[in-house]
Amino acid sequence: MTASGRATRQASVVVRRCAELAGISSEPGRTTRVHLSPEHLRVNDVVGGWMREAGLAVHVDAVGNLHGRLAPTAAGPEDAPVRTLLLGSHLDTVVDAGRYDGVVGVLMALATVERLVADGTALPFALEVVAFTDEEGTRFGTALLGSSAVAGHWDDAWWDLVDADGTTLREASVAAGLDPALVGTAALDPTTLVGYLEAHIEQAPHLDEAGRALGVVTGIAGARRFVVDVTGEARHAGGTPFARRRDALLAAAEAALAVERTCRERDQIGTVGTLTVAPGAVNVVPGRARFSVDLRGETDAGRDAAWDAVTAELDAIAARRGVTVAVRQVHEAGAVRCADRMREAVRAGVLATGDATPAALFSRAGHDAMALAAVTDVGMLFLRNPDGTSHHPDEHVAEADVALGLDALAAAVVHLASEDGGSGR
Ligand code: HGY
Ligand code: MN
Ligand code: MN
Repeated sequence: MTASGRATRQASVVVRRCAELAGISSEPGRTTRVHLSPEHLRVNDVVGGWMREAGLAVHVDAVGNLHGRLAPTAAGPEDAPVRTLLLGSHLDTVVDAGRYDGVVGVLMALATVERLVADGTALPFALEVVAFTDEEGTRFGTALLGSSAVAGHWDDAWWDLVDADGTTLREASVAAGLDPALVGTAALDPTTLVGYLEAHIEQAPHLDEAGRALGVVTGIAGARRFVVDVTGEARHAGGTPFARRRDALLAAAEAALAVERTCRERDQIGTVGTLTVAPGAVNVVPGRARFSVDLRGETDAGRDAAWDAVTAELDAIAARRGVTVAVRQVHEAGAVRCADRMREAVRAGVLATGDATPAALFSRAGHDAMALAAVTDVGMLFLRNPDGTSHHPDEHVAEADVALGLDALAAAVVHLASEDGGSGR
């Protein structure tokens, strides 16, 4: 398939802008941009400027999400309230991230609005590009903070989340010029939403292995995240016999292997991404260890059964090694199905690129669409992600695939605009 000339030109701008934003980072030479950091505010300024250049009405909401809005370009029924189709993704990143996760989706959404305006497309609904913050949960551990606020599902307990420096989310929000008391104003009225469309790199190798540029997302894995604290005894590394040791690091190591083994056996997805030990000296048996667990599954039931098996293993390890284990859940997002009508729109978009048999696949990565699915129909378009490399500086996407994605995204919006006689219902 070959993309349109316009999409090809736009893709070059999108890829160039991804490179520009990758340089806005808290770490020289790496891309790390966490919620409410100076870099996050800077990126909101830059992308907000591009939105204004495109003629969008721009604002930052009470939790730090950036919005760019285009009013309907076609008259709707006199008394009908204006409805809105949300497009977007996220601008925050993991540590030492790639340059496309989230960002390419935001910039493709903006380019799609620009294109539809240039084409003079009659849109019976408003288009709102949302650049969510804190999809990753890198700074405070809980993911989807920005999109949860837009969905009206904010949990006030989140204000007390603390980052590695002990700064609370409330303190960070005030320092960023936001008023926590206004968090409710970030929520959009679900009755006015046509739906939410998100383009994103696949973050897995399946499209690449199948030789496909684009994919229609059928659903998104449900995720739970935990922090596990292991307490043993710090003792002399020379004088303490093995039989007397209560080694927290070795208990944590056994637990990490149990997470992997249990998830492999049950076809779930489990990762221990962080592990710290204390006191952290070469000649001291570790007395304390803290590790994270990221657990996902195509169904919440399958995922939760795997977690029950893991916790049974943790108890056995603790008994065997004479340590105590304390588990705290820090994030939970249920598995999501993409709505049929949105899948149909994305499928129509992929067909419009000349792909006669659109690939359909399930997302193992989490996305803002999970939070939005609680209040509106969501659809996602995946772009081929060579080798599935993501959450890594080598993350890549081909400019030609971005161009095809732009043709597909524009066609998907036009498909929705033509739904129900253009009422967007
Ligand atoms: O963790 C994820 O799946 C997503 O990239 N935040
Ligand atoms: Mn990510
Ligand atoms: Mn992402």
